[in-house]
Amino acid sequence: MCVSGCSESGHAVWAFDDLNDFYDPQLKRGNLRDIQSLARPFEFVQGDLLDRATLDELCASVKFDQIIHWRRGQACGQALNPLPCISG
Ligand SMILES: NC(=O)c1ccc[n+]([C@@H]2O[C@H](COP(=O)([O-])OP(=O)(O)OC[C@H]3O[C@@H](n4cnc5c(N)ncnc54)[C@H](O)[C@@H]3O)[C@@H](O)[C@H]2O)c1
Repeated sequence: MCVSGCSESGHAVWAFDDLNDFYDPQLKRGNLRDIQSLARPFEFVQGDLLDRATLDELCASVKFDQIIHWRRGQACGQALNPLPCISG
């Protein structure tokens, strides 16, 4: 809903997700297909948010106006340090 809403507003949207199996990955892939079928500017990158090198590379290659971060973490105690490219 977030992606389709941003896309309908005219934004080029990128999604970054590891498609882990905490929730059904087939459901996530189905959601991706639905978004891709909208034929609006959309890019998907599969990767781990905790992989700093991958995020640095992505943020160096794409100028993001905004980053929306939905990861909760699969356990309440699994904290995520804000990364510079997310806060910048
Ligand atoms: N699940 C709930 O019951 C619930 C209730 C209220 C609010 N929320 C909020 O909704 C948001 C999403 O919740 P959720 O339960 O779906 O969170 P989640 O972290 O389990 O999953 C969100 C997405 O992040 C991806 N993800 C998780 N870890 C990742 C990693 N290391 N690298 C890349 N991608 C990763 C998952 O594949 C998933 O698509 C959170 O902000 C949460 O606080 C959730």
